Formats: sequence, structure tokens, C-alpha cells
Amino acid sequence: MMKTLVILAHPDLGGSRVNKRWKQELLQYPGDIAVHELYKEYPDWNIDIGREQQLLESYDRIILQCPLYWYSYPPLLKKWFDEVWTYGWAYGSTGDKLAGKAFGLALSIGDKQENYRPDGSVSFTVDEVIAPFKASLIHVGAVALPHFSFFGASFKASDAAIEQSAREYMDYIRSIQQ
Ligand SMILES: Cc1cc2nc3c(=O)[nH]c(=O)nc-3n(C[C@H](O)[C@H](O)[C@H](O)COP(=O)(O)O)c2cc1C
Repeated sequence: MMKTLVILAHPDLGGSRVNKRWKQELLQYPGDIAVHELYKEYPDWNIDIGREQQLLESYDRIILQCPLYWYSYPPLLKKWFDEVWTYGWAYGSTGDKLAGKAFGLALSIGDKQENYRPDGSVSFTVDEVIAPFKASLIHVGAVALPHFSFFGASFKASDAAIEQSAREYMDYIRSIQQ
């Protein structure tokens, strides 16, 4: 089976409940899943661009996993896009290294699902919130996999709900690996 690369971006995995649990689950399948933790690799935020590009080149299926912060990525993941997805490599007339690769997004989201609706308190669906991600994939000729979201991922989330989310996350990964 083709291996999946998970790029995990959480600024405080020690204080995390959801992403920490998900990581623990991912590590159960080292033959199928490789985990690359941005905040652990680059504590000083000095991203090794060549290394990141090589890593991306060696996988065809990549999932970005992070908590939703201000309806967006945690900042090191945004910096990773800015610095790694470069002109001449990812896009431009000679930039084709991500073309045809499949990218998914796995998000832990503090708020409830019912609020992520046009008539809910957030006013936008998650599909709308992740438009920058989808537009970025289009820009580099990559393919969008379905995304995975766990709502209610706040301090109020029960241990049981987090356990269930870990199982659902693995089901999601298995479904995109077919
Ligand atoms: C700086 C910050 C910004 C956040 N922004 C949002 C947000 O825009 N929407 C939302 O639903 N939850 C938001 N949250 C809640 C996080 O998504 C939630 O705490 C996280 O997914 C929990 O995962 P963890 O246990 O792995 O940290 C935010 C939390 C923090 C700390």
C-alpha cells in the first residue's frame, strides 16, 4: 500500500488533547503512515525548505493535520506554505512538483458543528472556511481529498468523544488510502 504522509502542526502538543491522541493513533501504523511534526522539527521556526520539498516529493498522498485557529492554520503551517510551496517548484512554468498529488486536511475544531452553517453563529461552513486550502491545491495542480473535521474539540470535549474521533480519523485515513 502506498504510504501516507501526515504533516502535523500543533504549537503545543503537550497541552493538546485531540491532536495528541490522533498522533498516538497514527504512530500505531508506521508501515502505512509517516508523521512529520512541524513544531517539533522546527522549534525556532527556521524551516529547512529543501528538506520539506524532498519530503513532499517522496509521497503522493499527504494529510495536513492541525487545530483550527482563527478559522485558519496555526502560524508555522502557514509559514510552511509560504516558504516551501515556491515559484519554480510548486507553481510557475517549471513548478510542477505537487501536480497530481492528493492532499487532505484533518482539523480539530473547537466550536460545534451546528454553528458552522450560514445561519449558525460562525456564518460559514467548514468547506467555505477551508477555501484557501482548496484554492492552493488548484493553484499547484494537486487533488483535494475529502477533509476530516472533529467539532466540539474544546476543553469541554469528553474523553469518550475524543476516543471516538481517533477511531473516525483512522477510518478516514483508511478510506482515502483505498
Ligand atoms: C489561538 C486559538 C484559536 C482558535 N480558533 C478557533 C476557531 O477559529 N474556531 C474554532 O471553532 N475553534 C477555535 N479554537 C479552538 C481550537 O480549535 C481547539 O482548542 C483545538 O482544536 C483543540 O485541539 P487540541 O486538543 O489538539 O489542542 C481556537 C483555539 C486557540 C488556542
